[in-house]
Amino acid sequence: MLKGSDPNSLLHDLKTPIIKTVQPQATVSPVKPLLKWAGGKRQLLPVLSEHYPPTFSRYIEPFVGSGAVFFDLLNSGRLARREIVLCDVNPDLIGCYWSVRDRADEVIRALRALAREYRKSGNECYYDVRDRRFNPERAELQARAAHPKEVAARYTPELAAMLIFLNRTGFNGLFRLNRRGAFNVPAGRYTEPRICDERHIHAVAFALGQPHVTITLSPFEETLADSRRGDFVYCDPPYAPLSRTSSFAHYTAGGFSSFDQWRLQQAVIAACKRGARVVVSNSSAAEIMRAYTTLDAQKALLEIRPVPARRAINSRASARGPVDELIISNVKRTALDTIRPRMLRARPKQRVKTA
Ligand SMILES: C[S@@+](CC[C@H](N)C(=O)[O-])C[C@H]1O[C@@H](n2cnc3c(N)ncnc32)[C@H](O)[C@@H]1O
Repeated sequence: MLKGSDPNSLLHDLKTPIIKTVQPQATVSPVKPLLKWAGGKRQLLPVLSEHYPPTFSRYIEPFVGSGAVFFDLLNSGRLARREIVLCDVNPDLIGCYWSVRDRADEVIRALRALAREYRKSGNECYYDVRDRRFNPERAELQARAAHPKEVAARYTPELAAMLIFLNRTGFNGLFRLNRRGAFNVPAGRYTEPRICDERHIHAVAFALGQPHVTITLSPFEETLADSRRGDFVYCDPPYAPLSRTSSFAHYTAGGFSSFDQWRLQQAVIAACKRGARVVVSNSSAAEIMRAYTTLDAQKALLEIRPVPARRAINSRASARGPVDELIISNVKRTALDTIRPRMLRARPKQRVKTA
């Protein structure tokens, strides 16, 4: 623990925006996620949005990652006047969101400097940032912290800027940690990546800094345990691997095991029983099919809805493969529900004001 610091009061302070850094902007426009994220749901939004409940009270996302669904709901105006709870267990991610929310100007200043360096020395700069600055600073922070929450709470604007920089210039925008917890993504191949988009960062800071939005570092059980009747809970956990070799579950050094998938199923069923409306994305691995077809899952009114994978909707029958994604939900889709989202799309979009 850091000398002379009370992590709880520090956390409390950091959850309360200290500096309002949002600059007035003349236009309103949709806000994109801040980061690219493995398993990000941007591509799946047209399908996923068909499963959003037409009405709900709070919006809760226990595995927020880049928050593709959160930003989609926000941009469509469906989150207006609703309480929003965004959580993840990755302290770098949450630390970065807190820094952007509360200290956007400092993040931008550090990111601008990194962008200048990268223009001069490209990948050499990437590896220098990754190996000589980002990883050592994170390691030092972790060594001094008593709890991952303290790592997130003590994340500096410089670390947040480095995370955004590595995300924009690294291979596929991955955030991947090795077993020792070091970020190990190689450089990407970009000619002129957009590293510092100030307007975008301010728009994200504004979206996350609204008083009805809470971002916390918490494991999914805690987040789901807090859900109640009328809430819309969207769960996008690390997918269960379809084969022994296909796993990508390294968002955190610990990974996400079959036992975690089972604990999630239990927490989802409990949330459904309390009256929350839950949507879960996952792979079509046998363990997931089994988990959500148990008697308990059926009693919780959970239904499995296969999502046609790109190759499964190939016009050539011979090129069609198995479905590899599932949407699991207790949201009843009446004829009216399937019409309403289309009506919403047909209306001019309610944009989120960025000032
Ligand atoms: C598939 S990604 C979510 C992607 C997100 N929907 C998006 O659009 O970017 C899964 C997320 O779950 C988080 N995660 C892993 N284990 C977790 C746990 N036990 N509790 C909460 N979040 C966890 C990871 O850090 C990662 O951000």
